[in-house]
Amino acid sequence: MESFYYDNQTLCCEGVKLSDIARQFDTPTFVYSQAQIEHNFRTLDAAFGNIPHVICYSLKANSNLSVGRILASLGAGADIVSGGELFKALKIGIDPQRIVYASVGKSPAEIEYALRAHILMFNVESRAELETINRIAADIGVVAPVALRVNPNIDAKTHPYITTGMTKYKFGIPVDEALDLYRLTRTLTNVAAKGIQMHIGSQLVSVNPIVQAATRIVELALQLQGEEMPLEYINIGGGLGIRYKDETPEGPEVLAEKIVPMIKETGCTLVMEPGRFIVGNAGALLTRVLYTKQNPAKKFVIVDAGMNDLIRPSLYDAYHPILNVAEVEETEQVDVVGPICESGDFFAHERELPRFASGDLMLIKCAGAYGFSMSSNYNARLRAAEVIVSGDTPRLARRRETYEDLVRGEEL
Ligand code: LLP
Repeated sequence: MESFYYDNQTLCCEGVKLSDIARQFDTPTFVYSQAQIEHNFRTLDAAFGNIPHVICYSLKANSNLSVGRILASLGAGADIVSGGELFKALKIGIDPQRIVYASVGKSPAEIEYALRAHILMFNVESRAELETINRIAADIGVVAPVALRVNPNIDAKTHPYITTGMTKYKFGIPVDEALDLYRLTRTLTNVAAKGIQMHIGSQLVSVNPIVQAATRIVELALQLQGEEMPLEYINIGGGLGIRYKDETPEGPEVLAEKIVPMIKETGCTLVMEPGRFIVGNAGALLTRVLYTKQNPAKKFVIVDAGMNDLIRPSLYDAYHPILNVAEVEETEQVDVVGPICESGDFFAHERELPRFASGDLMLIKCAGAYGFSMSSNYNARLRAAEVIVSGDTPRLARRRETYEDLVRGEEL
């Protein structure tokens, strides 16, 4: 399925011309295809259709309420990492009994908020956190459902900034310590061990590291069940990768083929926390060329979006496909840069691209995940609008910020 495509030399999202979106909503604007979001969710859901499973959409990838609402209506739960994401998940209308909460640094206030909301489970990342949850749960007279996030020490073979499942990183509880900690939960009156979780990284193009890690986690789950600790949930991550450039990621079907038999053996419900796979290729950043300029070294195409809108190229040297909204054949090698006062403010370096002139519209693809959600007001720039297209109808999912938004909450 391809929701961004040329029709009569003009780029469309579903049934809407991107030039019409620019006219109606201005630029820069994130554009999301509802059909693509639904397709991605359903593909994942179907792959695990023959075992009990809960898909907890990872709100950090894109926490726009309208995007979340689309997923909630398909039955998605949420993976949250902060009180803010819990607030948004509840606003979206996600059933708290489908919300799981991960983070190495949950504050006491956030823990209490989640306990009072009766979420499905905390993914606990340390002994100290487990004891804190137990104490707060006792204070308010509830029993906290927990899973331990086990760090299986497996290299996910992805970008180091988005690898998590090795002991040199801060995440989770080393696999050899997990057993003792599970035993400890028995002595804590206000926590109940419900599950086990792992997440070894993001943008995984091969499922092998997940399968390897899952093997360790399932082994542990079986051992715990042998000690009469009946876990109900096994939460398996890393996040499946998408194609940004020329990757050929293994998809959910390949993962399911290897994982489903293991999960079945435990009798547990499978939980997953996908973000990028659901929304990554469903969104793009629509921006307008302000100027072009040639210096002795190279040619620059300067656009009205910046690293404050989409930081992935600056932060990870990430590749995002770039298209001219008007299909043109002639190409040239350019740098695509934004207006921000940093040399790191770029979307492409020395890339052969269709020719762009001042006023042209550009589409930066695969920006649905970790695009808007990582955006900022750096350089006092207004955060972009977000628009969802469904069929031939675009609708505003977040209005562009105003100058007044910039100073809200500040004192003179
Ligand atoms: N669950 C946990 C515990 C995670 O740490 C993550 C991602 C996810 C779920 C969702 O992973 P996904 O399905 O999206 O791969 N900003 C980076 C990605 C950071 C991912 C952090 N954790 C990027 O732009 O590539």
